Amino acid sequence: MRKIIIAIDGYSSCGKSTIAKELAKALNYHYVDSGAMYRAVTLFLIQNHIDIYHPELVQKALKDIQINFGVNEETQTQITLLNGEDVENEIRVNSRVASAVSEVSSISEVRKFLVNQQQMLGAQKGIVMDGRDIGTVVFPTAELKLFITAEPKIRAQRRLDELKSLGQNTTFEEVLANLTKRDEMDSNRLDSPLLKAKDAIEIDNSNLSQDEQFALIIDLVRKTKGQEQRN
Ligand code: DC
Repeated sequence: MRKIIIAIDGYSSCGKSTIAKELAKALNYHYVDSGAMYRAVTLFLIQNHIDIYHPELVQKALKDIQINFGVNEETQTQITLLNGEDVENEIRVNSRVASAVSEVSSISEVRKFLVNQQQMLGAQKGIVMDGRDIGTVVFPTAELKLFITAEPKIRAQRRLDELKSLGQNTTFEEVLANLTKRDEMDSNRLDSPLLKAKDAIEIDNSNLSQDEQFALIIDLVRKTKGQEQRN
């Protein structure tokens, strides 16, 4: 059966990566977390004291950044590698990364650098990628585009639970404030703002269980693949 590209976009912490991972596993597709790539670039810039308000310095630093994905042998989960080093935990729990990532992802040089890599990763299809501009910029011709939403308070609680499980000590208010700020920056930046693609299917999962959401989406995948087969 012909492989397709599944593009998943949406606000921060609305469960995009959970559903993307589930889909990739069920379909035996590759999963790419594009947000992890923006986080890894942000971590590199912080570690190397690069002034993110100077695009020419950022552009120069990008030449020294290599991002790959690997597997944690112990947990069998996907990890992000920054220049060969496992930074999976660091990019999720480092509050400086969380604070700077929206600013870094608004830099056109950074977007160009990562979009190019993301498009290469999808060249063979059979991929599920989640992010903010996947259906609009990275894969505008993706066979299936999903736009996931959920109420901000529900998203903040989910993110708080995730951070706590990673050993982070933070509050609901802090998480909600960071999330709201990131939503605003992601939606209002000039280059590739978070937008629902015209042909994306919107799913509000505020009141859906993980299983209900999966059932709904896998059905959409089957229909899309069936349609592709007939074309
Ligand atoms: O999905 P996430 O929260 O890990 O993403 C981190 C940040 O990266 C988010 O604030 C927006 C940015 N991002 C982006 O601009 N474009 C993408 N395709 C993915 C993420």
